[in-house]
Amino acid sequence: MANDQNKKLTTAAGAPVVSNTNSMTAGKRGPVLLQDVYLIEKLANFNREVIPERRMHAKGSGAFGTFTVTHDITKYTKAAIFSEVGKKTDMFARFSTVAGERGAADAERDIRGFALKFYTEQGNWDLVGNNTPVFFFRDAMHFPDLNHAVKRDPRTNMRSANNNWDFWTNLPEALHQITYVMGDRGIPTDYRHMHGFGSHTYSMINANNERVYVKFHFETQQGIKNYTDQEAAEVVANDRESSQRDLYEAIERGEFPKWKMSIQVMTDEQARNHRDNPFDLTKVWYKSEYPLIPVGEFELNRNAENYFADVEQAAFQPSNVVPGISFSPDRMLQARLFSYADAQRYRLGVNNFQIPVNAPKCPVHNFHRDGAMRVDGNLGSTLHYEPNSYGEWKEQPEFKNPAEEAGPADIYDFREDDSNYFEQPGKLFNIMSAEEQQRLFENTARNMEGVEDFIKERHIIHCYKADPAYGAGVAKAMGIDINNIDVNKEIQYH
Ligand code: HEM
Repeated sequence: MANDQNKKLTTAAGAPVVSNTNSMTAGKRGPVLLQDVYLIEKLANFNREVIPERRMHAKGSGAFGTFTVTHDITKYTKAAIFSEVGKKTDMFARFSTVAGERGAADAERDIRGFALKFYTEQGNWDLVGNNTPVFFFRDAMHFPDLNHAVKRDPRTNMRSANNNWDFWTNLPEALHQITYVMGDRGIPTDYRHMHGFGSHTYSMINANNERVYVKFHFETQQGIKNYTDQEAAEVVANDRESSQRDLYEAIERGEFPKWKMSIQVMTDEQARNHRDNPFDLTKVWYKSEYPLIPVGEFELNRNAENYFADVEQAAFQPSNVVPGISFSPDRMLQARLFSYADAQRYRLGVNNFQIPVNAPKCPVHNFHRDGAMRVDGNLGSTLHYEPNSYGEWKEQPEFKNPAEEAGPADIYDFREDDSNYFEQPGKLFNIMSAEEQQRLFENTARNMEGVEDFIKERHIIHCYKADPAYGAGVAKAMGIDINNIDVNKEIQYH
């Protein structure tokens, strides 16, 4: 209604705006006046709409939802979120592609991010995973280089298959992740039809302060659906927002997507005797040895009212854990505990935890004060130093985790010495049907078009080591006769 007071246009300071269509000029054809303060405010505001995009996972979609416990796992964890069967906890999820910028098309061959934020009464728990259970490498030292290699070339400003594959094939431990990404699961049709994984090894601590190591799994209840390269090309030609559209519209229709959460559990003793490093992110724990234990289910049931407010400003931090859930010695995870909060202090500011989507739903008391955009009252007149004699705020030593044995340790830039790079990718290759394997060969060959021959050869040798049929299939799809390659030659990594 035109006379509805709530619909009247105002400046940011709340004063009435006279005209939002005509600038104020000196005479009918004269110049614009500096005193048109609303025009200046409008232009200045517009200039500041863009905030830095996430360095990785810039293109994404999110929604709010509910997590429900379906099975009792209190013998493993004292986390309040899992305290009883039937318990519900509000949550927020953001899915993403990795390499593309904020405007990239959704249906690209890439890993998908699978980030979950649970608003528990003991604080926010963020599980920032992917749709694959492993990663390209196991030392964070490689992470900035991965991103340089898969993003744009500094000279051409185009993505470079040569950079990408030169980097990947210099790290033989990457083959497992590469096999996922080049296989059918490399292009999920959308975010509803893919599984999610915490990927890292985390730990759980129970009420007796006993620790186990865990991996988190999220099984889509919509079923897995993927595009072939050809189908994806057609989708992208018509719709760059295919995953965003699918998720948003499904929720608007009331078809709330669901995922079942389960965990794999390894005791401390099993971890010590595990054949591989159980904290190596390039490896899975076989389900035959560490079966899935059901935990709960989440559904996404509410779209954000405003994309920027909730999805773009969402800040997930693997460092956000709650009592009963903790870290592991996984060196990638350890680096991520620093990286995300740091990225968000840059991207959103030091007070990003006050943005509603990031704000815990439980009381927050600490001695952090001030900083740009502190808008929550800054803890008012409460004391801002420690120690103080007034009990603000009391430490909670009852939540101290059991000690983890480090032993007498040398500090050194140790290289992970496990060179069992190819067993697990070989197994992954072998659970694929013949048709899937054929698509894997062809996807790889297409993806490596234009790459220098010595890099192609390096990849073929890795595939061969995983399974001779994998190497032969990829070579053939590239039009290379594998008999012309010395598959046993020692590769010089750089
Ligand atoms: C986003 C760093 C490995 C999943 C990001 C961001 C950074 C980052 C800086 C942007 C954060 C922001 O601006 O809010 C790293 C580093 C890694 C690493 C240093 C290795 C040491 C991984 C792994 C996974 C993962 C192994 C999954 C298992 C994600 C997801 C996002 C993300 C899902 C997007 C979160 C969102 O939706 O806001 N990463 N990452 N990253 N990363 Fe990583």
